[in-house]
Amino acid sequence: MNLIDQQQPYRNTPFEGTHIQTRPLAAAMGGEVLDVQIADLNDKHFSEIEKALHHHKMIFFREQSLSLTDQELFTRRFGEFGTDAYTTGMPDHPDIQPVVKEADTKSKMVFGGGWHTDSPFLECPPSVSILHGVEIPPYGGDTIWYNSVLAYESLSEIMKSILAPLRVHMSAKNVINSMRRVAQELKSNSTMSDMELDLDVQSMLDGSYHPLIRKHPVSGEISLYCDAVYAVGLQGMTDRESRPLLEFLVTHLTQEIFSCRLRWEPHTVAVWDNRICLHRAFNDYDGYRREMYRTTVRGETPIAAF
Ligand code: SIN
Repeated sequence: MNLIDQQQPYRNTPFEGTHIQTRPLAAAMGGEVLDVQIADLNDKHFSEIEKALHHHKMIFFREQSLSLTDQELFTRRFGEFGTDAYTTGMPDHPDIQPVVKEADTKSKMVFGGGWHTDSPFLECPPSVSILHGVEIPPYGGDTIWYNSVLAYESLSEIMKSILAPLRVHMSAKNVINSMRRVAQELKSNSTMSDMELDLDVQSMLDGSYHPLIRKHPVSGEISLYCDAVYAVGLQGMTDRESRPLLEFLVTHLTQEIFSCRLRWEPHTVAVWDNRICLHRAFNDYDGYRREMYRTTVRGETPIAAF
């Protein structure tokens, strides 16, 4: 078995349920769910899917036949729809967010292009996110996830005790500023590839303060809740104090040893536990169309680990 270091063995083993089997994607996280059609799931299958998700942190399914309605029903099995702070959703499907980049679009910014966790500026950020790939470039456009439980566990005990009481300010100010900058450069409203944006800017800028070290409400796992896009400060610290610490945490979290990388195929569906991982979309497929549909599940107010 590979080790991150002597104390921290990887543990992304196959999940073997009665109905569901998985194949790990990488040593750190991720697993492919085998021989399942999401649209045909029954309750017993679903309860094992949830367990497999907690085990792997990101699971994916190939060759799915999934309508928008099927995606809504699957999402609702996990809980209520989450707030989509960026778009009004699809016609007749307001909780489904299209994530599309056209072949002739050249944009410096794609949706999800920075290392992030989904919508942490909300008081109740999504617990689970689901992304259905419909049209996929022949190469490029992969998504990478990072396991923030392993990242927390591999910190020294001294660093863990420094971080334990801290609260992180999560705000969308960097995203909104970049979108405004790109819009000015392009002199257009189409700021993020080909998505129609609809934002309640003030509440996204104000954001929320959450525990930097959080506890998963089901598995009890402890993770580092920080990212490169939305984590803009630490409560009670000056910018000069918090910035180097946040930079260190992001550099630590986004090491390859904590990651898995998904190469999409048409009709792949990925599901991730947004409470315990970061992710990032790659903008490396100019000249090709990428069409995805995203839903999220409303999570709880993040629970402090200590
Ligand atoms: C996202 O951040 O939810 C989008 C990821 C992707 O398009 O690969």
